[in-house]
Amino acid sequence: MELSMRMKAIAEWLEKDQRVADIGTDHGLLPIYLAKEGFSGLIAADLRPLPLEKGRLNAAKHGVDCIDFRLSDGLENISSDEVDAVVIAGLSGETIIAILENAGWLREKTLILQPMSRAQVLRQYLSDAGYGLQEEKLIFEENRFFVLHYVRGKGKKLSDRQIHIGLSPTADYLKHLISVNQRALEGLSKSGKPCDAARLEETKYVLTLLREELENGNCS
Ligand SMILES: C[S@@+](CC[C@H](N)C(=O)[O-])C[C@H]1O[C@@H](n2cnc3c(N)ncnc32)[C@H](O)[C@@H]1O
Repeated sequence: MELSMRMKAIAEWLEKDQRVADIGTDHGLLPIYLAKEGFSGLIAADLRPLPLEKGRLNAAKHGVDCIDFRLSDGLENISSDEVDAVVIAGLSGETIIAILENAGWLREKTLILQPMSRAQVLRQYLSDAGYGLQEEKLIFEENRFFVLHYVRGKGKKLSDRQIHIGLSPTADYLKHLISVNQRALEGLSKSGKPCDAARLEETKYVLTLLREELENGNCS
């Protein structure tokens, strides 16, 4: 079956002997692909019944009947001894953080996280909470960048630069972040509201980091 580049990049980080839970599975395409690749002990979880039904239908369409489709808010209905690796992809950074906060046992697992927004907020959380952010992948697809995080074991504190720029930025990604932050800076400068002052300063600081990184040419 055809998988998006984003999903394929997630799947490449997983090992066949790992029991994987896909949280916020929706269409279920990742666990279906993994089942076809020979993985077992797969759980596909979602907060809502309708996406789960969509996932079940997709699994049937692909002749896969070994996935445990489960209604669950985050990992609420999944226990530590059922899984080795957890994927949380396509949710906001804030929702991913809330899910991690409610399942302390995730520290012992392999985590693959792909926030749809605000990767820096998730990195800051992982760093403060002592998670080991080992690797990142950047995928450009559907005309946008996706940041994928591979988390395992304990980790050292990330620097400000790593939090805002990431572990392995490309020049194109830096240019994209510069333009996003430049637009934000223009909006904040126009607003003139005292409550925006801290964000304005933060945005200026991030722009400095991004421009330095691009000028130093450390990335491909
Ligand atoms: C945009 S889809 C992402 C689908 C897939 N993971 C992907 O990356 O393509 C987000 C899914 O997450 C589910 N979701 C949102 N919050 C959740 C939570 N707290 N626990 C489990 N699933 C959640 C939604 O119901 C929805 O089906």
